[in-house]
Amino acid sequence: MSDSTVTTSAPAFELSRLSKTFYPLIPWHRHRAVTAVSELTLNVPRGIVFSLLGPNGAGKTTTIKLLAGLILPTQGSISFFDEKGRLLARRPRIGAVLEGSRNVYWRLSPMENLYYFGEINGIPRSEIRRQAKELLSMFDLADKANSSVQTLSRGMQQKVAIALALLGDPDLLLLDEPTLGLDVESARLIKRRLRHLVEERGKTIVLTTHQMELAATVADRIGIMQEGRLIAEDKLSNLISFFRKQDYEVEMPRASWKEVRPAASALSFDEEECDEEDCVRVTFHLEDTNDFYRLMTHLKEQGAPLRSIRQVTPTLEDVFIEITRRYRTNATDTAQAQGGEVK
Ligand SMILES: Nc1ncnc2c1ncn2[C@@H]1O[C@H](COP(=O)(O)OP(=O)(O)OP(=O)(O)O)[C@@H](O)[C@H]1O
Ligand SMILES: [Mg+2]
Repeated sequence: MSDSTVTTSAPAFELSRLSKTFYPLIPWHRHRAVTAVSELTLNVPRGIVFSLLGPNGAGKTTTIKLLAGLILPTQGSISFFDEKGRLLARRPRIGAVLEGSRNVYWRLSPMENLYYFGEINGIPRSEIRRQAKELLSMFDLADKANSSVQTLSRGMQQKVAIALALLGDPDLLLLDEPTLGLDVESARLIKRRLRHLVEERGKTIVLTTHQMELAATVADRIGIMQEGRLIAEDKLSNLISFFRKQDYEVEMPRASWKEVRPAASALSFDEEECDEEDCVRVTFHLEDTNDFYRLMTHLKEQGAPLRSIRQVTPTLEDVFIEITRRYRTNATDTAQAQGGEVK
């Protein structure tokens, strides 16, 4: 995953000040235009999983649609590059799965879908046969190859959609919420397959998700969008270390905490019950490391027996909440300074 993967810095694509505004069809409703993507500048290297996160309506799906060429930008540009870093004159072959597995014909079986889409993409029948076999087994769908897609479970339908997107061996894969509604086993299978495609086959994958755990385990780089803007973009480990605080969680018997609590009153902390009986978990939010040493010395002097102690590492979810909160606070401050209101 993330840090262990050797990635080339050659770009797969670059977005330059990409914007998309949806205008209502009725001309006098133009003031209701929605800017779904605003001045998005981003460089995604080849051979990585890039995960786009953001609250509902942030502009993730619109970005995926722009990349896939399903809608045109209002402003800005998208450039695609080949494996040697040369600018491509045209959009390369892209595999895309949009929300709700809409790239699948529900009345056809997975095998028929693969043949249908393979043929309209000009792939020779013998090649379709070879790839279909490989893709159906890759996603554990071999025994459902000939059942109509509408009779399959939601997770199986999603796997069919991803398998179809991989037909023709595209270098770039765009997945909008690929594991939404999947059971644990299926989500795991998809995660493994995505990592395999990147690590063994050199593919580039862009995926959107609300599942922080998916992004944290599968993505090499993470972009956070809000109100159409890209408000953070980095490796997961960098995002985490940027938000790492001097937070220490100490578990101790309730009686010991009662003893030392008055002396700790100058520090900032939260306390809660632990899982064990007669135990309290105190999270200290310290300003600097010396505070921590002083605290430890104090606990030692009081002879307070500690049950556990650990530095709290923020999760991707903590980072996401903090980044989006800061963005909202800044937006509110700016609007107030300008005498306006924030929606
Ligand atoms: N075809 C459209 N016409 C008008 N507005 C649209 C259209 N598609 C998207 N929007 C608007 O653009 C904004 C961004 O939508 P988008 O679907 O890209 O968000 P998202 O980040 O994918 O959200 P979610 O997490 O809910 O899937 C929203 O305000 C949405 O209402
Ligand atoms: Mg969406």
